[in-house]
Amino acid sequence: VPTDNAPAIVVGSGYGGAVAALRLGQAGIRTLVLEMGGLWNTAGADGRVFCSTTAPDQRSMWFRSRTEAPLATFLWLDVVNRAISPYPGVLDRVHHDHMSVYVGRGVGGGSLVNGGMAVTPPRSYFTEQFPGVDADDMYGTYFPRARAMLGVNSVDPAWFESTEWYRFTRTSRKAAAKAGLRTTFVPNVYDFGYMQREAAGTATRSALAGEVIYGNNHGKRSLDKTYLAAALGTGNVTIHTLEKVIAVSRAGDGSYVLTADRIDGTGAVVERKQYGCTYLFLAGGSLGTTELLVRARDTGTLPDLPPAVGAGWGTNGNTMLGRANHVWDTVGADQATMPVMGIDDWANPDNPVFAEIAPLPMGFEHWISLYLAITRNPERASFSYDSSSGAVRLGWTADQSAVSVAMAKKLFDRVNAANATIYRYDLFGSTGKVFADDFTYHPLGGCVLGRATDGYGRVKGYAKLYVTDGSLVPGSIGVNPFVTITALAERTMARVLAEDTAP
Ligand code: FDA
Repeated sequence: VPTDNAPAIVVGSGYGGAVAALRLGQAGIRTLVLEMGGLWNTAGADGRVFCSTTAPDQRSMWFRSRTEAPLATFLWLDVVNRAISPYPGVLDRVHHDHMSVYVGRGVGGGSLVNGGMAVTPPRSYFTEQFPGVDADDMYGTYFPRARAMLGVNSVDPAWFESTEWYRFTRTSRKAAAKAGLRTTFVPNVYDFGYMQREAAGTATRSALAGEVIYGNNHGKRSLDKTYLAAALGTGNVTIHTLEKVIAVSRAGDGSYVLTADRIDGTGAVVERKQYGCTYLFLAGGSLGTTELLVRARDTGTLPDLPPAVGAGWGTNGNTMLGRANHVWDTVGADQATMPVMGIDDWANPDNPVFAEIAPLPMGFEHWISLYLAITRNPERASFSYDSSSGAVRLGWTADQSAVSVAMAKKLFDRVNAANATIYRYDLFGSTGKVFADDFTYHPLGGCVLGRATDGYGRVKGYAKLYVTDGSLVPGSIGVNPFVTITALAERTMARVLAEDTAP
């Protein structure tokens, strides 16, 4: 017997979950959000909610005894990561055989840990990836709606040109220009007015204090300050934290039954709960949602889920790399953590790449230009259920990562040739690896729109079951994904509230 019932339940509080919660709450539908991570609103003994990247503590990562930062080493030395005590920290790195996936854990999901880059994809590529979605609706209504709600803004170009905090970006821009490559400003949800006050010394530093992947204490408009605050403001939305949904099934009357484990600060399960709902919105992110549905199908709790559940997963072509600049091309000891520019070679038919110019704030001059390349890697993988262990495994292979690496290399070989520079060999472990080919920030797919669902995120085979997160995106979107995920969720909610929930 379910211990708690709500007309609507939303699993996960990232972008897809936050949009669902707000729109359900505004429609007057009582909604419960279940989030496995914590609520990040209480300062620790140091007076701060989040810890810094330079002195990470237990708050940094999800139940680890050592941090696992994307850059493993500097000068091949194991100086980046730190011993920590296991705790429900804000950043997780989920390991599969040949790919690990960084995700945010907490009320706000990825918005708590990400770089804030709020990029709308080129319309032509969006249409290619989503042939069944009306692009006029997206570009006329849902992308603008998402950007307005997320608080997207842009760096003041004059300040950008003059501030020490973006010297690293200008140096990368110069190197790209020498290779004949176009760079473009990218918007962000970090409040650039706040950042300028940080630089002026009139506001507490956050982006200018190295804060990003373990959370920002100031300045960033994460979802807890935008969509989720508005959702709670409707009076119809409740959020339960540290509750992980582990199983989904359906009762005889067609309602959904969820099993959730409530954990404490040590990770121990302190309570197993059951919930019931009429409308179920899955928004645990590409990994979280896909895992729940693959398990439900293959253990027989939702046996009519289609074969497309678990398929069509990709990394958005992510590859990270560093270049070594000449001594006279400094990147500065002071670096803002919010990226504001990318090398845009996406329209190059031979080798489409969009590479964001990433910060590497180490507090001293290191002459490194760091990039997160988004390549048009066509490789896709599937998830499968392993009945002996009960685990859901991702079938991504090393060869599939090699495709992203080759594309990034083709672009940056050009940049190096034009500048007579070389790659850095010391950043991704002791083996002298140049390209980080084993992690992604942009997990996409697993329940692709129009394949595992109808054209609006309604899961095939089951009424009143929806997906609203990054699982819907077919493995690649060509830019940083959260604006697309948010806009698609807005489109789904508009349709579902108009058609499915009428009394
Ligand atoms: P998201 O992952 O945001 O939310 C899912 C939530 O569900 C999480 O809070 C999770 O804890 C919870 N959950 C999962 N399973 C659950 C379960 N079974 N029960 C209960 N809760 C569960 N993108 C971008 O556009 N610009 C950028 O600059 C960056 N930068 C960046 C940096 C880093 C370090 C990372 C890790 C990621 C980015 N991204 C990014 C990616 C972006 O953050 C990502 O695409 C979105 O957060 C995905 O949104 P979703 O709604 O799909 O899930």
